[in-house]
Amino acid sequence: MSSLVFGLLGLLEDPSAACRNLTSSLGIERTAVSPLDLRYINSRNSYWNQKLNAYAPACVVYPEDAQDVSLALKVIKATGSRFAIKAAGHNTNDLFSSVDDGVLIDLTHMTGKYYDEHTTLATYEPGSSWGDLYDFYLQYGRTVVGGRIYDVGTGLALGGGMSYLSPQYGMACDSFRELEVVLPNGDIVTASSTQNPDLFFGLRGGGGNSYGVVTKYTVQSRPIGTLYAGNLLYILDHHEKILNATRDFILYNQDPKAAILMNFNVLTTPDLDLGLDQACLMFLVYDGEDPGDAFANFTAIPYLLNTLGPKTYPQPCRQRVPHRRAPGRR
Ligand SMILES: Cc1cc2nc3c(=O)[nH]c(=O)nc-3n(C[C@H](O)[C@H](O)[C@H](O)COP(=O)(O)OP(=O)(O)OC[C@H]3O[C@@H](n4cnc5c(N)ncnc54)[C@H](O)[C@@H]3O)c2cc1C
Ligand SMILES: *[C@@H]1O[C@H](CO)[C@@H](O)[C@H](O)[C@H]1NC(C)=O
Ligand SMILES: *[C@@H]1O[C@H](CO)[C@@H](O)[C@H](O)[C@H]1NC(C)=O
Ligand SMILES: *[C@@H]1O[C@H](CO)[C@@H](O)[C@H](O)[C@H]1NC(C)=O
Repeated sequence: MSSLVFGLLGLLEDPSAACRNLTSSLGIERTAVSPLDLRYINSRNSYWNQKLNAYAPACVVYPEDAQDVSLALKVIKATGSRFAIKAAGHNTNDLFSSVDDGVLIDLTHMTGKYYDEHTTLATYEPGSSWGDLYDFYLQYGRTVVGGRIYDVGTGLALGGGMSYLSPQYGMACDSFRELEVVLPNGDIVTASSTQNPDLFFGLRGGGGNSYGVVTKYTVQSRPIGTLYAGNLLYILDHHEKILNATRDFILYNQDPKAAILMNFNVLTTPDLDLGLDQACLMFLVYDGEDPGDAFANFTAIPYLLNTLGPKTYPQPCRQRVPHRRAPGRR
């Protein structure tokens, strides 16, 4: 009896049927089936948490618009295949944006970005990193509320999204105005405060991969000019002072233009050669040219490196946080 049930489930869950269908319906430009395809290799090996590279999708699809996503979801549903949706792959959890023996929907070919000067609304597709978006909107003197590190992707905002600008404008999802969403049944709908408001509510922090695939974000953009920002690098001996300064910043800072991000890291510093393997890297960002004494408690602690100074917005995000290395071979 149970072997019959499992046999039927096995028939239902057929990733190769889904991949065959997708290869013929989307075409080979938008489907990678071979593990030797460079696109497949790149999609599989570009997770921030390198442990996730161990998962082997049966195929990877690269939709170019909502219609492609809709088609992929319909085929996945009809074949019962497993699947995952991947933007920039910075979620650290197993199977959130990775899949073993199923269809991986890689959104990184959807990189459209627009700005409407009349409404000041920004519209972007899900495949860019935050750094790409900040670089693009800077030409208009604007930015969007998103991640604090360059390489992180737009999936961040579906889970809320903490930005250096959050003390002023809220979480990234608070700037959502209208979303184009492909529902699990393949329907393409709009979610906003007036259309499908419950769906809109859920997508503003309910987490990625929860209600459908977002194929377009229209958000309120924000003005941005010259910032005072940079990093302070400390040796770990000062950890208690750093923790105290962070606590005091949280307790006493009243200026919403000031933001910090503290990182205790195992650092690989090939071009710095400081002989360190552990350190604290502070990111300090002031949305304006004069921070007053907002960061004085941090600069008072002896540091190894201080890059604070005038910056354009993407600059403070450019530092790459080292990838999490796989704990061992699998
Ligand atoms: C180095 C680093 C720095 C970080 N910095 C910050 C930070 O400053 N602020 C902060 O709030 N968080 C931060 N995070 C956490 C980050 O928000 C999450 O890891 C987030 O999931 C990353 O989104 P992604 O698009 O890069 O990842 P992915 O793993 O590609 O996607 C994340 C999740 O969302 C789903 N998803 C992605 N796109 C869509 C879509 N269009 N429609 C439906 N589902 C989708 C995926 O299936 C997955 O479950 C950071 C993480 C790292 C590793
Ligand atoms: C792919 O699957 C869809 C949905 O089940 C179906 O309508 C379509 O005919 C299939 N196409 C191919 C080429 O197999
Ligand atoms: C950190 O703060 C605690 C509590 O206020 C204090 O007791 C401690 O001496 C401080 N540590 C340093 C290194 O300043
Ligand atoms: C710095 O820390 C002290 C407590 O040690 C606190 O009184 C002060 O407000 C802090 N400064 C800022 C700008 O947060």
